[in-house]
Amino acid sequence: MKKFYIETFGCQMNAHDSEKVVGTLLQQGYSQVAEPEQAELILYNTCSIRDKAEQKVFYRLQQFKREAGKGKVFGVLGCVAQQEGEAIFERAPHVSLVAGSASYTKLPEMLVQLEAGNRRVTGLSLDTDETFDTPFARRDNPHRAYITIIEGCDKACAYCVVPFTRGPERSRTSESVLQETRTLANAGYTEVQLLGQNVNSYRDPSPVGWDFAQLLRKTGETEGIRRVRFTTSHPRDFVKGIIDAIDESEALCNHVHLPVQSGSTKVLARMQRLYSRDDYMRRIEWMKNARREIAITTDIIVGFPGETEEDFNETVKMVEEIGYDAMFIFKYSKRPNTSALQYEDHIPEEEKTRRFMVLQERQRALQIRRNSAYVGRTEQVHVEGFNRATGQWIGRTSQNKMLNFHHPLLLAPEEGRTLIGSYLDVLVTRAGPNSLAGEHFTGYVQ
Ligand code: SAH
Ligand code: SF4
Ligand code: F3S
Repeated sequence: MKKFYIETFGCQMNAHDSEKVVGTLLQQGYSQVAEPEQAELILYNTCSIRDKAEQKVFYRLQQFKREAGKGKVFGVLGCVAQQEGEAIFERAPHVSLVAGSASYTKLPEMLVQLEAGNRRVTGLSLDTDETFDTPFARRDNPHRAYITIIEGCDKACAYCVVPFTRGPERSRTSESVLQETRTLANAGYTEVQLLGQNVNSYRDPSPVGWDFAQLLRKTGETEGIRRVRFTTSHPRDFVKGIIDAIDESEALCNHVHLPVQSGSTKVLARMQRLYSRDDYMRRIEWMKNARREIAITTDIIVGFPGETEEDFNETVKMVEEIGYDAMFIFKYSKRPNTSALQYEDHIPEEEKTRRFMVLQERQRALQIRRNSAYVGRTEQVHVEGFNRATGQWIGRTSQNKMLNFHHPLLLAPEEGRTLIGSYLDVLVTRAGPNSLAGEHFTGYVQ
């Protein structure tokens, strides 16, 4: 039996790609092991979004360099593979396979070549539309499943590698998305997460021709599916119809991740984001005026070339005005092939760090305030796990907030008894910046 090990970096799309890769390898007679030491084939599914992410894979490859002589085969998959291509063989000569995400349907052929002793196997073509065929995906989570609905990106943000690493936008037919959703529901899944780099740019390529809001509604109508999430939305393509769909479909979670990147229209223009601060604020207004209470989260880049103190203050002001439920903050990182490389007014690293800290501190205070408002409320959670250290079950609310709680009748998972996968009403009793805590009472009181 051939054994493989895989480590995954990066976003949810990469996590789901790895599920497809694992499924394909199992289908080919390989078995998965938990440690690289036990494996004959070692795969890294890589991310290149920031320099640090890219360096991780080369660090890993360095760590195991000596193992290569002992018959181990190394493969680099994902965004660094697509970006660097055959140059990886030069930089890390013990690597035998370099393949980007659009080539995973060809993995069986590539494995045959590796087994035949070929030490320079590549899958780097981006002109394929077969990327959605995932008959063998082996999902890690038995209750919440990822579904890719659109691949690639047609935008050209000045800082971003994704258009190079994932290629042009390709949407999948609505029939194929709904078919996969039904199959997952029949297999016991109750929650699905629709994925795409710009998930809301979705446009059904079949004659049905649905837009994203229509696909969302239909997915939410699938029997057995109780929750539908989606990520990541691009503000330019974020139409009011998406909010209407959330308002009218119970199964759609009331959470939107809408990366703003900056609160300064000047910086947004230099980033080539295709919207202004006002355009973005209009979308926030739609959400604030919705019938349901929609949690809003975002991504922000600090220290983009040319970002002045004034621009940064506009971002801070905007963040305070909106009151995000959560935020990912990144320091601008120079990326190969991107147009921002041509800018000369780069911000010193210490200044980027300072802005990062200022924003993080503000956001932390805002999150404490926002989360405190939940104390005393009852929220429905989908239970995802159990924390042995604290003796709490781990749940997630529709708004994507983690809610850790005690259950009076099941203090911990027991042989054949668990709460994982169930939906429970939990009273929120405490709030921190990043999570809520509470108690489950139903079926216990009286
Ligand atoms: N398609 C999504 C973003 C995907 S990348 C969108 O357009 O919103 C995820 C996040 O990484 C981005 O939102 C951005 O905040 C961050 N990011 C991308 N490139 C970066 C870079 N060069 N430096 C720092 N952060 C970056
Ligand atoms: Fe990158 Fe911009 Fe495309 Fe998002 S929209 S993936 S940030 S190029
Ligand atoms: Fe990283 Fe590629 Fe995702 S660059 S963030 S793994 S699309």
